[in-house]
Amino acid sequence: MELLRSLIFVPGNRANMLERAKGFNADVIMVDLEDSVPPGEKANAREVARQWVPQLARAGRKVMVRVNSLDTGLTREELAAVIGPDLAGISIGKGESAWDVQEADRLIGPLEAAAGLEPGSVKLIPWIETARAVVNVYSMAAASPRVIAIAFGAEDFTNDMGIRRTDLGEEVQAPRAMVAVAARAARVGALDSPFVAFRDPSALRQDAQKARQLGYTGKFAIHPSQIDAINQTFGPAEEEVAYARRVMAAWEQAQAAGRGSLDLDGKMVDVPVVKRAQNLLALADAIARQSSR
Ligand code: GLV
Ligand code: MG
Repeated sequence: MELLRSLIFVPGNRANMLERAKGFNADVIMVDLEDSVPPGEKANAREVARQWVPQLARAGRKVMVRVNSLDTGLTREELAAVIGPDLAGISIGKGESAWDVQEADRLIGPLEAAAGLEPGSVKLIPWIETARAVVNVYSMAAASPRVIAIAFGAEDFTNDMGIRRTDLGEEVQAPRAMVAVAARAARVGALDSPFVAFRDPSALRQDAQKARQLGYTGKFAIHPSQIDAINQTFGPAEEEVAYARRVMAAWEQAQAAGRGSLDLDGKMVDVPVVKRAQNLLALADAIARQSSR
């Protein structure tokens, strides 16, 4: 199981912030060449990213890069600068259809081969952040075997719709839910939009909880202070793990006695409840393995 609970954006032109990112405990450091880099800094950011992807990987971090969208004319050069053995994946914004995802895949293929990497080893995380992308979301999620997750971008989405963006996010509830359902249907992860009010930790926790309840498996961070809360929200809580262990133990007893359901604390436990407990324990194991590395 690949852990993608927290992915922190670091602007690709800021070497001092990339240096600090060596110590971040996010599952992924997402070096950004897109919207956190001003237009005049794009070329510089590309060169900084070229140097920093290997440095962050050497510090033990999993590194991905968000490149600029296909219509900017910058994508190919950026991919060429960063694809190599130290890069785990590429994220690309503002695509609107399966074609955009397949085009990114076609650009990545030869660069991956030239770097001597296994075909398909560079993963892809497309952003769903326009009305058209939301309508096409399942076909985008399923457009390439490189796709390991899709990301919902509420900032660009609300811009595209011409609506106000709020911290409560009621305005994006429907598309946000659609992205999570499509991700699950395509068997890829669902990554939630960053929460921009980074000085409000309790609002971040509420927002992340909401996303988890919609089926999101992780969330982007824009500030290191957000990482722990995101990791905690998208990993099971201790009580959840303890309960799942009790479910499994009671289930094994019931099975041995030839029963297909049982009563645990006044609640019925049957196959779906057991599957949920198994999935939760698998996630807890993956987290424990990662933190013991
Ligand atoms: C992120 O890229 C967003 O548009 O919210
Ligand atoms: Mg965006």
